[in-house]
Amino acid sequence: MKLGPPTKYAGLMPYARRQLAGLTAILALSLMVAAAGGLQPWPLKVLVDYGVERQPVPPWLQAAFEALLLPRSPRAIVLVAAVGSICVFAVTNALQAALDWRWTVVGRRMMNDLAADLFHHYQRQSLLRHRQTSVGDALSRIGTDSWSIQQFTSALMIGPIRNALTLAVLGVAGWQLSPSMTRLSLALAPLLGFSSWFFGRKLKAQARRMRETQSRLTSFVQQTLTAIPVVQAFSREDFNRRRFEVLAGEATEQSQQRAVVDSAYGMATGIIVTAGMAIVLFAGGRQVLSGALSVGGLLVFISYIRSLQGAAEGLLSTYGALKPVEASLERVLEVLDGRDRLPERPDAVPLPPIPPAGGRRLSFEHVTFGYDPDRPVLTDINLEVLPGQSVALVGETGAGKSTLISLIPRFFDPVRGRVAIDGVDLGDVRLASAREQVALVLQEPFILPIPIAENIAYGRPDATRHEIEEAARAACAHDFILRLPCGYDTVVGERGTTLSGGEKQRLAIARAFLKNVPILILDEPSSALDIETERQLLEALRRLMVGRTTLIIGHRLSTVCGADEIVVLHQGTIVERGTHERLLERRGMYYAFYAVQAAAGSPEFVA
Ligand SMILES: Nc1ncnc2c1ncn2[C@@H]1O[C@H](COP(=O)(O)OP(=O)(O)O)[C@@H](O)[C@H]1O
Ligand SMILES: [Mg+2]
Repeated sequence: MKLGPPTKYAGLMPYARRQLAGLTAILALSLMVAAAGGLQPWPLKVLVDYGVERQPVPPWLQAAFEALLLPRSPRAIVLVAAVGSICVFAVTNALQAALDWRWTVVGRRMMNDLAADLFHHYQRQSLLRHRQTSVGDALSRIGTDSWSIQQFTSALMIGPIRNALTLAVLGVAGWQLSPSMTRLSLALAPLLGFSSWFFGRKLKAQARRMRETQSRLTSFVQQTLTAIPVVQAFSREDFNRRRFEVLAGEATEQSQQRAVVDSAYGMATGIIVTAGMAIVLFAGGRQVLSGALSVGGLLVFISYIRSLQGAAEGLLSTYGALKPVEASLERVLEVLDGRDRLPERPDAVPLPPIPPAGGRRLSFEHVTFGYDPDRPVLTDINLEVLPGQSVALVGETGAGKSTLISLIPRFFDPVRGRVAIDGVDLGDVRLASAREQVALVLQEPFILPIPIAENIAYGRPDATRHEIEEAARAACAHDFILRLPCGYDTVVGERGTTLSGGEKQRLAIARAFLKNVPILILDEPSSALDIETERQLLEALRRLMVGRTTLIIGHRLSTVCGADEIVVLHQGTIVERGTHERLLERRGMYYAFYAVQAAAGSPEFVA
């Protein structure tokens, strides 16, 4: 909190800089608004001093009369004052409207820029970090907190300049009317500054709590609606409703507290302003009585004092004006800081081209990894997959199989040891260049809300429709895709189109087929399929695996028994390895798995 705002919020400056032209226009317009505001009491002064008090008319007013071809009668003065006040009002409002409009456009642009960057940061954020944050929280940072950039620019860049200039203009004008009263009113400024500093601290703390509560509420709604089948199956609707009410109640309570602080702030400021005005009225009134100031002059002055005080307060509370949005700004900066990304070394190079002999070699060397570094999920893994070979991973659920393969696209970095492609540590190559080489079929296939064809071509957007269909055929997906309402153009999730687990799995496999890269990773690719579809698919997969370096995780032994090497993982360590036949002979863990499936009548035991 000791850092001044300029250093602390330096990361937000580029968003303002990109809108420099718009912000300059805003600054010019707000100066004009301030100047027009300064003109507002003048018609009244004209009326009182020259119309009522019959003081000699100054040259500029005479010029106005001549230009308008008016006689110099008191009635004409009244008319000029009335028309003048309408003109001043119209000009002030037109300028204000232009200012508001510019702010809307510029503010929206800055916000869009910032939101786009936040979104992109989230996209690249490491999966380890994603585990710790909810989607609801991300939504509220991208959608709501990004608005703070507008207040930020207004409070920190436009505000101070405008206030300083307003203060200068009005101060000079006030000084000409009465130096002593200008001094008097300026003396009140520090008091106003104090009240906004004092309440600003409270407002900030409140704002942060409010944002957090709101984001808890959003996350709760999002998570509940995502898990709706579970909610309904377990009849948790009423429980969730109560939970919603509790969370919403907290939000209401905090809004109330904020309203209290807000009105206390308004009241304190009001009291100080009123006291200041009373002092000014008293001193000014005496000057009018003694003839040192005209009545009109006092009216102009009183109206200036308000603006003067407003600008002085604005200037003193430049930092305070940021208080209510500081919480949002910090939440935005947290994401922009980007420390949550997997580090890419500045000297990272693209993965070297495939050696002439063909294929990529994958190796794990003494790899230890845990989602929480103190609780390893994998311990001292040594594994090598030679170019064009296939290694199958087996083991009970939770053994760490999916975790092991997630190190290859570098979703996570090992805590100790290294993962390498062709002997090059993944940490030394450009992330994108390594990921380009890997086709991944995850245990939970993700299908995006875009047409099926684009889903299949996700890793190769330039693929032709023919290639997409070929890949779908190979993945045994073509037939079911044709049965969808719009075939390959069906958007999953739209108009009630849903896919079964097995269908999603086949789309994910088609995606891998189409990507056509040297490293293939399959996490239980056929677990959700019936025996017949699985048999067809395995055939296709075997064709796909030819010439590629493959890691395949399988529960069903039919998936794994053809692999060049089978590795049995148990509680994060490799306990057995060898070919299907060798492992059967050993009568160890693999044999035990196998025996269970054989007892269940799995066809491959007979085969
Ligand atoms: N994203 C994650 N965050 C924290 N723990 C995880 C995560 N994914 C898996 N785990 C834990 O790591 C262990 C290994 O899981 P996993 O690799 O999915 O096993 P498998 O694929 O062999 O069933 C389990 O104890 C699991 O709870
Ligand atoms: Mg798994």
